[in-house]
Amino acid sequence: MTGAPVRIAPSLLSADFGRLADAVATCEGADAEWIHFDVMDGRFVPNLTVGPIVLKALRGLTKLPFDVHLMIEEPLRTAEQYLDAGAARLAVHVEAEAHLHRFAQLVRSRGASPGVAINPGTSLVLLDEAVRFVDFILVMTVNPGWGGQSFLPGSVARVRELSDLIRSRGAACEIAVDGGVSPANAGALASAGAGHLVAGASVFGRGDVAAGVAALREAAAGLRA
Ligand code: DX5
Ligand code: ZN
Repeated sequence: MTGAPVRIAPSLLSADFGRLADAVATCEGADAEWIHFDVMDGRFVPNLTVGPIVLKALRGLTKLPFDVHLMIEEPLRTAEQYLDAGAARLAVHVEAEAHLHRFAQLVRSRGASPGVAINPGTSLVLLDEAVRFVDFILVMTVNPGWGGQSFLPGSVARVRELSDLIRSRGAACEIAVDGGVSPANAGALASAGAGHLVAGASVFGRGDVAAGVAALREAAAGLRA
């Protein structure tokens, strides 16, 4: 465990899409650090969700920074639109973008924080260079595309492996975890080196977002499982 408190980003994917403005306000009241947006294009993953127009419409409603996860093909083609819409953190998939370094340069030039997401079936070896020039790696602990899936077995060990890789490269990049995160695994994830937890179903699914965030925070701090 790094000692630093884990930061929590509720994923709007599990919120009521007919009342996104309310969901954003609820996250702010729940003392979360970020709001996680799952952008899906119907190609990289089968679902379609929101794009920059929706982000921009919600941007003025909260002070919480937007943590934007692009599950789209050719992300560099539209990355700037998400930065214009107010993304503070922007992640592309290593499986979808050949020009990770150029992506990181673009995001930094706009004062935002670049990240790279990785699917469960992709080797961590592909992150060998990126850990040196992005701020965070978003480790998918489910196959991306849907909320409410079960945390994949072996994911805690994978986070630990990535943590070792980052340390061995002398990099400062942080680890975010996304998919099936709940109080049952938050403590183990934090111990393995996760600094950020993204959670959809375990936060919005229980009907009390503030309690969901608090339960994750306590579990990550080792206060309860
Ligand atoms: C999955 C998304 C996740 C998802 C997590 O493709 O990237 O952010 O919303 O939801 P839960 O926590 O329900 O697995
Ligand atoms: Zn996500």
